[in-house]
Amino acid sequence: MSVTITIQDLVKKYGDTTVIPELSLEIKQGEFFTLLGPSGCGKTTLLRMIAGFNSIEGGTIHFNERVINQVEPGKRNIGMVFQSYAIFPHLTVKGNIAFGLENRKLSKAEINAKVDDILKVVQIEPYKDRMPKNLSGGQQQRVALARAIVIRPDVLLMDEPLSNLDAKLRVDMRNAIKDIQREVGITTVYVTHDQEEAMAVSDRIAVMKSGVIQHLGTPQEIYQRPANVFVATFIGRTNILAGSITKAAGGSYALQLGSGYAEELSNIEVPRADAAANTLNVQISVRPEEFILTEDQTGMKATIVHSVFLGQNTHYFVDLASGQRVEITQESKASQILEPGQVIYLKVKKEKINVYDAAGDLNYTRGARL
Ligand SMILES: Nc1ncnc2c1ncn2[C@@H]1O[C@H](COP(=O)(O)OP(=O)(O)OP(=O)(O)O)[C@@H](O)[C@H]1O
Ligand SMILES: [Mg+2]
Repeated sequence: MSVTITIQDLVKKYGDTTVIPELSLEIKQGEFFTLLGPSGCGKTTLLRMIAGFNSIEGGTIHFNERVINQVEPGKRNIGMVFQSYAIFPHLTVKGNIAFGLENRKLSKAEINAKVDDILKVVQIEPYKDRMPKNLSGGQQQRVALARAIVIRPDVLLMDEPLSNLDAKLRVDMRNAIKDIQREVGITTVYVTHDQEEAMAVSDRIAVMKSGVIQHLGTPQEIYQRPANVFVATFIGRTNILAGSITKAAGGSYALQLGSGYAEELSNIEVPRADAAANTLNVQISVRPEEFILTEDQTGMKATIVHSVFLGQNTHYFVDLASGQRVEITQESKASQILEPGQVIYLKVKKEKINVYDAAGDLNYTRGARL
Protein backbone atom coordinates (compact mmCIF):
# COMPACT_ATOMS: atom_id res chain seq x y z
CA MET A 1 0.00 0.00 0.00
CA SER A 2 1.41 3.39 -0.86
CA VAL A 3 1.12 6.23 1.65
CA THR A 4 0.80 9.98 2.05
CA ILE A 5 3.96 11.51 3.54
CA THR A 6 3.30 14.54 5.73
CA ILE A 7 6.31 16.56 6.84
CA GLN A 8 5.68 19.22 9.47
CA ASP A 9 8.14 21.87 10.69
CA LEU A 10 11.03 19.50 10.07
CA VAL A 11 14.44 20.66 11.30
CA LYS A 12 17.86 19.18 10.50
CA LYS A 13 21.01 20.31 12.22
CA TYR A 14 24.53 19.02 11.87
CA GLY A 15 26.12 20.22 15.11
CA ASP A 16 25.38 23.94 15.32
CA THR A 17 24.65 24.28 11.64
CA THR A 18 21.00 24.25 10.61
CA VAL A 19 20.73 22.66 7.18
CA ILE A 20 16.91 22.47 7.05
CA PRO A 21 14.97 25.09 9.02
CA GLU A 22 11.29 24.17 9.61
CA LEU A 23 10.30 22.53 6.36
CA SER A 24 6.68 21.49 5.79
CA LEU A 25 5.44 19.46 2.87
CA GLU A 26 2.78 16.94 1.93
CA ILE A 27 3.55 14.25 -0.63
CA LYS A 28 0.37 12.61 -1.85
CA GLN A 29 -0.32 8.92 -2.10
CA GLY A 30 1.03 7.54 -5.38
CA GLU A 31 2.63 10.83 -6.32
CA PHE A 32 5.95 11.18 -8.17
CA PHE A 33 7.49 13.98 -6.15
CA THR A 34 10.87 15.53 -6.91
CA LEU A 35 13.27 17.51 -4.76
CA LEU A 36 15.28 19.77 -7.02
CA GLY A 37 17.94 22.29 -6.17
CA PRO A 38 21.61 23.19 -6.35
CA SER A 39 24.35 21.11 -4.77
CA GLY A 40 24.31 21.33 -0.98
CA CYS A 41 20.71 22.60 -0.65
CA GLY A 42 19.67 19.64 1.51
CA LYS A 43 18.03 17.16 -0.90
CA THR A 44 19.90 14.07 0.26
CA THR A 45 19.60 15.19 3.87
CA LEU A 46 15.80 15.36 3.58
CA LEU A 47 15.60 12.03 1.78
CA ARG A 48 17.72 10.36 4.46
CA MET A 49 15.42 11.78 7.12
CA ILE A 50 12.44 10.17 5.38
CA ALA A 51 14.42 6.92 5.15
CA GLY A 52 15.44 7.02 8.80
CA PHE A 53 19.19 7.33 8.26
CA ASN A 54 19.41 10.88 9.65
CA SER A 55 18.39 12.12 13.06
CA ILE A 56 15.54 14.64 13.24
CA GLU A 57 16.12 17.78 15.31
CA GLY A 58 12.57 19.08 15.19
CA GLY A 59 9.14 18.49 13.68
CA THR A 60 7.49 15.29 12.48
CA ILE A 61 7.24 12.96 9.51
CA HIS A 62 4.01 11.00 9.13
CA PHE A 63 3.33 8.04 6.83
CA ASN A 64 -0.46 8.36 6.68
CA GLU A 65 -1.59 8.74 10.32
CA ARG A 66 1.58 7.28 11.81
CA VAL A 67 4.48 9.35 13.10
CA ILE A 68 7.65 7.61 11.93
CA ASN A 69 10.31 9.80 13.60
CA GLN A 70 11.37 6.99 15.93
CA VAL A 71 10.71 4.04 13.58
CA GLU A 72 13.88 2.17 12.53
CA PRO A 73 14.78 2.38 8.81
CA GLY A 74 14.19 -1.36 8.36
CA LYS A 75 10.63 -1.04 9.65
CA ARG A 76 9.53 1.85 7.43
CA ASN A 77 8.86 -0.38 4.42
CA ILE A 78 10.87 1.78 2.06
CA GLY A 79 12.53 0.93 -1.25
CA MET A 80 15.65 2.87 -2.16
CA VAL A 81 17.74 3.48 -5.26
CA PHE A 82 20.93 5.50 -5.12
CA GLN A 83 23.41 6.99 -7.53
CA SER A 84 25.83 4.13 -7.01
CA TYR A 85 23.99 1.00 -7.96
CA ALA A 86 24.74 -0.79 -4.69
CA ILE A 87 23.75 -4.17 -6.04
CA PHE A 88 25.55 -7.21 -4.68
CA PRO A 89 28.41 -8.16 -7.04
CA HIS A 90 28.46 -11.80 -5.90
CA LEU A 91 24.77 -12.45 -6.62
CA THR A 92 23.10 -12.92 -10.00
CA VAL A 93 20.41 -10.51 -11.17
CA LYS A 94 17.79 -12.88 -9.80
CA GLY A 95 19.68 -13.31 -6.55
CA ASN A 96 19.90 -9.56 -6.10
CA ILE A 97 16.20 -9.05 -6.66
CA ALA A 98 15.21 -12.00 -4.45
CA PHE A 99 17.40 -10.85 -1.58
CA GLY A 100 14.85 -8.56 0.10
CA LEU A 101 12.14 -11.20 -0.26
CA GLU A 102 14.26 -13.95 1.28
CA ASN A 103 14.66 -11.77 4.34
CA ARG A 104 10.88 -11.69 4.57
CA LYS A 105 10.59 -15.45 4.86
CA LEU A 106 8.39 -16.04 1.83
CA SER A 107 8.17 -19.50 0.26
CA LYS A 108 10.45 -20.28 -2.70
CA ALA A 109 7.51 -20.42 -5.08
CA GLU A 110 6.24 -17.02 -3.94
CA ILE A 111 9.68 -15.50 -4.29
CA ASN A 112 10.13 -16.91 -7.80
CA ALA A 113 6.76 -15.59 -8.91
CA LYS A 114 7.44 -12.11 -7.57
CA VAL A 115 10.93 -11.98 -9.08
CA ASP A 116 9.65 -13.12 -12.48
CA ASP A 117 6.95 -10.44 -12.39
CA ILE A 118 9.32 -7.62 -11.60
CA LEU A 119 11.90 -8.80 -14.17
CA LYS A 120 9.21 -8.23 -16.80
CA VAL A 121 8.26 -4.82 -15.45
CA VAL A 122 11.82 -3.48 -15.63
CA GLN A 123 12.55 -5.45 -18.81
CA ILE A 124 15.67 -7.31 -17.74
CA GLU A 125 14.26 -10.84 -17.99
CA PRO A 126 16.91 -12.05 -20.48
CA TYR A 127 19.68 -11.15 -18.02
CA LYS A 128 18.27 -12.82 -14.94
CA ASP A 129 21.10 -15.35 -14.54
CA ARG A 130 23.93 -12.92 -15.25
CA MET A 131 26.34 -11.48 -12.72
CA PRO A 132 26.19 -7.67 -12.32
CA LYS A 133 29.68 -7.13 -13.77
CA ASN A 134 28.38 -8.44 -17.10
CA LEU A 135 25.62 -5.84 -17.31
CA SER A 136 25.61 -2.29 -18.69
CA GLY A 137 25.10 0.66 -16.34
CA GLY A 138 21.47 1.00 -17.35
CA GLN A 139 20.82 -2.70 -16.83
CA GLN A 140 22.45 -2.57 -13.39
CA GLN A 141 20.30 0.40 -12.51
CA ARG A 142 17.21 -1.58 -13.54
CA VAL A 143 18.29 -4.35 -11.18
CA ALA A 144 18.59 -1.79 -8.38
CA LEU A 145 15.14 -0.47 -9.24
CA ALA A 146 13.64 -3.97 -9.40
CA ARG A 147 15.18 -4.83 -6.06
CA ALA A 148 13.69 -1.70 -4.52
CA ILE A 149 10.15 -2.22 -5.79
CA VAL A 150 9.85 -6.03 -5.53
CA ILE A 151 9.27 -5.74 -1.79
CA ARG A 152 6.18 -3.60 -2.51
CA PRO A 153 7.39 -0.69 -0.42
CA ASP A 154 5.04 2.02 0.86
CA VAL A 155 7.54 4.62 -0.32
CA LEU A 156 10.21 4.61 -3.03
CA LEU A 157 13.16 6.94 -2.46
CA MET A 158 15.59 7.66 -5.28
CA ASP A 159 18.69 9.85 -4.95
CA GLU A 160 20.21 10.85 -8.30
CA PRO A 161 19.70 7.32 -9.64
CA LEU A 162 20.69 8.25 -13.18
CA SER A 163 23.67 10.50 -12.70
CA ASN A 164 26.23 7.80 -13.58
CA LEU A 165 24.65 7.10 -16.95
CA ASP A 166 25.33 8.69 -20.32
CA ALA A 167 22.89 11.21 -21.78
CA LYS A 168 20.94 8.86 -24.05
CA LEU A 169 20.59 6.17 -21.39
CA ARG A 170 19.48 8.75 -18.84
CA VAL A 171 16.57 9.69 -21.05
CA ASP A 172 15.64 6.03 -21.70
CA MET A 173 15.89 5.19 -18.01
CA ARG A 174 13.93 8.19 -16.80
CA ASN A 175 11.09 7.20 -19.12
CA ALA A 176 11.31 3.64 -17.82
CA ILE A 177 11.26 4.81 -14.19
CA LYS A 178 8.24 7.00 -14.85
CA ASP A 179 6.36 4.15 -16.56
CA ILE A 180 7.20 1.69 -13.80
CA GLN A 181 6.23 4.13 -11.06
CA ARG A 182 2.91 4.80 -12.78
CA GLU A 183 2.24 1.10 -13.18
CA VAL A 184 3.16 0.20 -9.61
CA GLY A 185 1.71 3.40 -8.09
CA ILE A 186 4.19 3.84 -5.23
CA THR A 187 4.55 7.22 -3.51
CA THR A 188 7.94 8.26 -4.83
CA VAL A 189 10.41 10.89 -3.68
CA TYR A 190 13.04 11.53 -6.32
CA VAL A 191 16.15 13.66 -5.97
CA THR A 192 17.96 15.24 -8.87
CA HIS A 193 19.73 18.44 -9.74
CA ASP A 194 18.89 17.97 -13.41
CA GLN A 195 15.93 20.26 -14.02
CA GLU A 196 14.97 18.71 -17.36
CA GLU A 197 14.87 15.26 -15.78
CA ALA A 198 12.72 16.66 -12.95
CA MET A 199 10.23 18.16 -15.38
CA ALA A 200 10.05 14.98 -17.43
CA VAL A 201 9.20 12.59 -14.59
CA SER A 202 7.48 14.54 -11.82
CA ASP A 203 3.88 15.13 -10.86
CA ARG A 204 5.12 17.93 -8.62
CA ILE A 205 8.49 19.47 -7.88
CA ALA A 206 9.83 21.28 -4.81
CA VAL A 207 12.64 23.64 -5.76
CA MET A 208 14.92 24.09 -2.73
CA LYS A 209 17.64 26.54 -1.79
CA SER A 210 19.55 26.35 1.51
CA GLY A 211 17.03 23.90 2.99
CA VAL A 212 14.05 26.12 2.17
CA ILE A 213 11.40 25.31 -0.44
CA GLN A 214 11.31 28.18 -2.92
CA HIS A 215 8.48 26.91 -5.08
CA LEU A 216 6.31 23.83 -4.96
CA GLY A 217 4.23 23.09 -8.01
CA THR A 218 3.72 21.12 -11.19
CA PRO A 219 6.52 21.23 -13.77
CA GLN A 220 4.40 23.63 -15.85
CA GLU A 221 3.73 26.03 -12.98
CA ILE A 222 7.38 26.12 -12.02
CA TYR A 223 8.56 26.73 -15.57
CA GLN A 224 5.88 29.21 -16.58
CA ARG A 225 5.33 31.15 -13.36
CA PRO A 226 8.42 30.70 -11.19
CA ALA A 227 7.82 32.06 -7.68
CA ASN A 228 10.99 34.14 -7.57
CA VAL A 229 14.04 35.05 -9.63
CA PHE A 230 16.07 32.18 -8.14
CA VAL A 231 13.52 29.62 -9.40
CA ALA A 232 13.22 31.39 -12.77
CA THR A 233 16.95 31.17 -13.35
CA PHE A 234 17.33 27.66 -11.90
CA ILE A 235 14.62 26.09 -14.08
CA GLY A 236 15.35 26.36 -17.77
CA ARG A 237 17.21 29.31 -19.23
CA THR A 238 16.17 32.87 -18.80
CA ASN A 239 17.34 36.48 -19.05
CA ILE A 240 16.76 38.84 -16.14
CA LEU A 241 16.25 42.43 -17.28
CA ALA A 242 15.82 45.57 -15.20
CA GLY A 243 12.76 47.72 -15.84
CA SER A 244 9.86 49.48 -14.19
CA ILE A 245 6.11 49.27 -14.07
CA THR A 246 3.78 52.26 -13.83
CA LYS A 247 0.10 52.19 -12.94
CA ALA A 248 -2.13 52.83 -15.94
CA ALA A 249 -5.86 53.11 -16.48
CA GLY A 250 -8.20 50.18 -15.79
CA GLY A 251 -5.85 48.30 -13.45
CA SER A 252 -3.22 47.62 -16.06
CA TYR A 253 0.44 48.53 -15.83
CA ALA A 254 2.86 50.03 -18.34
CA LEU A 255 6.04 48.01 -18.40
CA GLN A 256 9.10 49.99 -19.37
CA LEU A 257 11.93 47.82 -20.64
CA GLY A 258 15.16 49.49 -21.54
CA SER A 259 14.85 52.86 -23.19
CA GLY A 260 12.00 53.60 -25.53
CA TYR A 261 10.19 50.27 -25.31
CA ALA A 262 7.00 49.84 -23.34
CA GLU A 263 4.24 47.25 -23.17
CA GLU A 264 0.88 47.35 -21.48
CA LEU A 265 0.45 44.46 -19.07
CA SER A 266 -2.98 43.54 -17.79
CA ASN A 267 -1.95 40.59 -15.62
CA ILE A 268 0.04 42.35 -12.91
CA GLU A 269 -1.02 42.23 -9.29
CA VAL A 270 0.99 44.30 -6.85
CA PRO A 271 0.48 43.63 -3.14
CA ARG A 272 -0.82 46.55 -1.12
CA ALA A 273 2.51 47.18 0.59
CA ASP A 274 4.13 47.92 -2.78
CA ALA A 275 1.11 49.44 -4.51
CA ALA A 276 1.46 52.87 -2.91
CA ALA A 277 4.20 53.83 -5.32
CA ASN A 278 3.07 54.79 -8.81
CA THR A 279 6.19 53.44 -10.41
CA LEU A 280 8.06 50.39 -9.18
CA ASN A 281 11.42 49.08 -10.20
CA VAL A 282 11.15 45.45 -11.24
CA GLN A 283 13.17 42.51 -12.48
CA ILE A 284 11.75 40.88 -15.59
CA SER A 285 12.40 37.28 -16.53
CA VAL A 286 12.29 36.75 -20.29
CA ARG A 287 13.10 33.26 -21.51
CA PRO A 288 14.98 32.98 -24.84
CA GLU A 289 11.80 31.82 -26.58
CA GLU A 290 9.80 34.75 -25.16
CA PHE A 291 11.50 37.33 -27.34
CA ILE A 292 10.00 38.39 -30.66
CA LEU A 293 12.18 39.78 -33.43
CA THR A 294 10.44 42.72 -35.06
CA GLU A 295 10.87 44.53 -38.32
CA ASP A 296 9.72 47.91 -37.04
CA GLN A 297 11.97 49.98 -34.82
CA THR A 298 9.71 50.17 -31.77
CA GLY A 299 11.26 47.39 -29.71
CA MET A 300 14.54 47.21 -27.82
CA LYS A 301 17.48 47.83 -30.06
CA ALA A 302 20.02 45.01 -30.00
CA THR A 303 23.07 43.86 -31.90
CA ILE A 304 23.76 40.26 -32.84
CA VAL A 305 26.99 38.98 -31.28
CA HIS A 306 26.92 35.39 -32.39
CA SER A 307 24.55 32.62 -33.29
CA VAL A 308 24.33 28.91 -32.57
CA PHE A 309 22.38 26.83 -35.08
CA LEU A 310 20.68 23.91 -33.30
CA GLY A 311 18.54 22.54 -36.09
CA GLN A 312 14.94 23.47 -35.40
CA ASN A 313 15.96 26.60 -33.49
CA THR A 314 18.78 29.08 -33.71
CA HIS A 315 20.09 30.68 -30.52
CA TYR A 316 21.36 34.23 -30.80
CA PHE A 317 23.43 36.06 -28.23
CA VAL A 318 22.71 39.74 -28.60
CA ASP A 319 23.82 42.92 -26.84
CA LEU A 320 21.12 45.35 -25.75
CA ALA A 321 21.72 49.12 -25.80
CA SER A 322 22.35 48.89 -22.04
CA GLY A 323 25.30 46.61 -22.76
CA GLN A 324 23.54 43.57 -21.25
CA ARG A 325 23.97 40.37 -23.23
CA VAL A 326 20.84 38.26 -23.64
CA GLU A 327 20.07 34.94 -25.26
CA ILE A 328 17.16 34.63 -27.65
CA THR A 329 15.79 31.66 -29.58
CA GLN A 330 14.10 31.80 -32.93
CA GLU A 331 12.83 29.03 -35.15
CA SER A 332 15.47 28.51 -37.83
CA LYS A 333 14.50 29.78 -41.26
CA ALA A 334 15.61 28.03 -44.41
CA SER A 335 17.39 31.02 -45.86
CA GLN A 336 18.41 33.30 -43.09
CA ILE A 337 20.71 33.27 -40.12
CA LEU A 338 21.33 36.70 -38.69
CA GLU A 339 24.94 37.81 -38.89
CA PRO A 340 27.14 39.23 -36.10
CA GLY A 341 26.96 43.00 -36.06
CA GLN A 342 23.44 43.10 -37.50
CA VAL A 343 21.04 45.41 -35.65
CA ILE A 344 17.66 43.99 -34.67
CA TYR A 345 14.67 45.07 -32.58
CA LEU A 346 13.20 42.90 -29.86
CA LYS A 347 9.80 42.73 -28.22
CA VAL A 348 8.62 40.32 -25.57
CA LYS A 349 5.69 37.92 -25.46
CA LYS A 350 3.94 39.86 -22.76
CA GLU A 351 1.58 37.12 -21.62
CA LYS A 352 4.53 34.81 -20.99
CA ILE A 353 7.16 36.92 -19.26
CA ASN A 354 7.35 37.18 -15.46
CA VAL A 355 7.67 40.41 -13.53
CA TYR A 356 9.25 40.41 -10.05
CA ASP A 357 9.74 42.99 -7.34
CA ALA A 358 13.09 44.78 -7.22
CA ALA A 359 14.55 42.20 -4.83
CA GLY A 360 13.45 39.31 -7.06
CA ASP A 361 11.56 37.65 -4.22
CA LEU A 362 7.96 38.12 -5.33
CA ASN A 363 6.28 37.38 -8.64
CA TYR A 364 3.85 40.20 -9.56
CA THR A 365 2.57 38.33 -12.61
CA ARG A 366 -0.98 37.13 -12.05
CA GLY A 367 -1.36 33.40 -12.15
CA ALA A 368 1.94 33.07 -10.29
CA ARG A 369 0.36 30.06 -8.65
CA LEU A 370 -1.64 28.78 -11.58
N1 LIG B 1 27.11 14.37 7.90
C1 LIG B 1 27.16 15.69 7.71
N2 LIG B 1 27.76 16.49 8.61
C2 LIG B 1 27.80 17.84 8.44
N3 LIG B 1 27.26 18.48 7.38
C3 LIG B 1 26.67 17.73 6.45
C4 LIG B 1 26.58 16.30 6.54
N4 LIG B 1 25.92 15.82 5.47
C5 LIG B 1 25.61 16.92 4.73
N5 LIG B 1 26.05 18.04 5.30
C6 LIG B 1 25.86 19.43 4.79
O1 LIG B 1 24.46 19.65 4.65
C7 LIG B 1 24.18 20.41 3.49
C8 LIG B 1 23.19 19.65 2.64
O2 LIG B 1 23.81 18.48 2.12
P1 LIG B 1 23.06 17.46 1.17
O3 LIG B 1 23.95 16.29 0.99
O4 LIG B 1 21.70 17.22 1.71
O5 LIG B 1 22.96 18.32 -0.18
P2 LIG B 1 22.34 17.90 -1.59
O6 LIG B 1 21.25 18.88 -1.87
O7 LIG B 1 21.99 16.46 -1.59
O8 LIG B 1 23.56 18.21 -2.57
P3 LIG B 1 24.10 17.40 -3.87
O9 LIG B 1 23.24 17.86 -5.04
O10 LIG B 1 25.50 17.89 -4.02
O11 LIG B 1 24.00 15.94 -3.60
C9 LIG B 1 25.51 20.68 2.82
O12 LIG B 1 25.93 21.96 3.17
C10 LIG B 1 26.42 19.62 3.40
O13 LIG B 1 27.74 20.06 3.44
MG1 LIG C 1 22.74 14.80 -2.61
